[in-house]
Amino acid sequence: MDFKLLNTDPKSSARTGELTTDHGKIQTPIFMPVGTLGSVKGVHQRELRDDINAEIILGNTYHLYLRPGLDVLEKAGGLHKFNGWERPILTDSGGFQVFSLADNRKLSEEGAMFRSHIDGSKHFFTPENVMDTQRTIGADIIMAFDECPPGTSTYEYAKNSLELTQRWLERCVKRFDETEPKYGYSQTLFPIIQGCVYNDLRVKSAEHAASLDRDGYAIGGLAVGEPVEDMYSMIEVVNKVLPEDKPRYLMGVGTPVNILEAISRGVDMFDCVMPTRNGRNGMMFTSEGTINIKNKKWHDDFSPIDPNGTSYVDQAYSKAYVRHLVHSGELLGSQICSIHNLAFYLWLVREAREHIIAGTFSTWKEIMVKKLAVRL
Ligand code: GUN
Repeated sequence: MDFKLLNTDPKSSARTGELTTDHGKIQTPIFMPVGTLGSVKGVHQRELRDDINAEIILGNTYHLYLRPGLDVLEKAGGLHKFNGWERPILTDSGGFQVFSLADNRKLSEEGAMFRSHIDGSKHFFTPENVMDTQRTIGADIIMAFDECPPGTSTYEYAKNSLELTQRWLERCVKRFDETEPKYGYSQTLFPIIQGCVYNDLRVKSAEHAASLDRDGYAIGGLAVGEPVEDMYSMIEVVNKVLPEDKPRYLMGVGTPVNILEAISRGVDMFDCVMPTRNGRNGMMFTSEGTINIKNKKWHDDFSPIDPNGTSYVDQAYSKAYVRHLVHSGELLGSQICSIHNLAFYLWLVREAREHIIAGTFSTWKEIMVKKLAVRL
């Protein structure tokens, strides 16, 4: 995998770049729609490609390992063949999901024992078998197996957890480098930086990850209960240490404002369930503010969902119609809101990119942050 740093903003740490994978190029900054089980909930692959123009999507090792299982994925020839998505895919390692979803987790030096949240069956993830699993799933970018401690963890807990994550990372790198891709295209492994809200731990984690000389790095353990200002300052601390010429991926973040603030601090890649999860509940992000489409005020508003929106749905349907659908529990309501929100997130990062190139990112960002705070 190759990354070219293309432009840097003179007034902030924002940058643009281009990532090249065997499944195509990705222009950064980029937002990656979350497709946990190999599907972005409620959105067809064709809409993702042709309407939303997603350049890369996510999958989750924990979920895909449990269902449909590795035998099916291997027989299919990997996730791209299985779900028909021909552009790049990134898989999370399961580190986060084991800690947030599974039952009866038990951590040891060797790995994490857990029970499936689906049927209670017992499983054991190790850094080695998580690398093997992600080889079988076949994503272009795969993630190291880590522990993601809560944002409110004590220094003592965070330090011990980071040290375990670092030992696991070394085992991930070793296993990854000893094994080959299964489907004829290349894969790359991103380490995950942890350390909660503690500067020295974040620096230590970033230095250790950088010393392993990988194609890109992820910042984990943020937006997990810590104050938002701590999240921003941890991003700054970490990005000062990470090499300039490699992509930086902020995991699981966030609101449109979080994304703009992180871009201005030098982050290149994002994923979050917010546009689809909130969309399913009738929340829509727009360039003029946020809409709760269930609100009574929209019941006879026949204006388009978002006159400035880039998606087909934005002009095709009125607010009143979408309110009616969501209010009635119609699947189409969730689908329309999810498509709109993903198109908005992709529009936001593309606009950020254009403004970085034009040298107008900082002023544009300030205006957008104010608009995004509006509740319509
Ligand atoms: N998704 C959001 N945060 C994290 C994290 O810290 N680790 C992993 N593996 N996935 C995440």
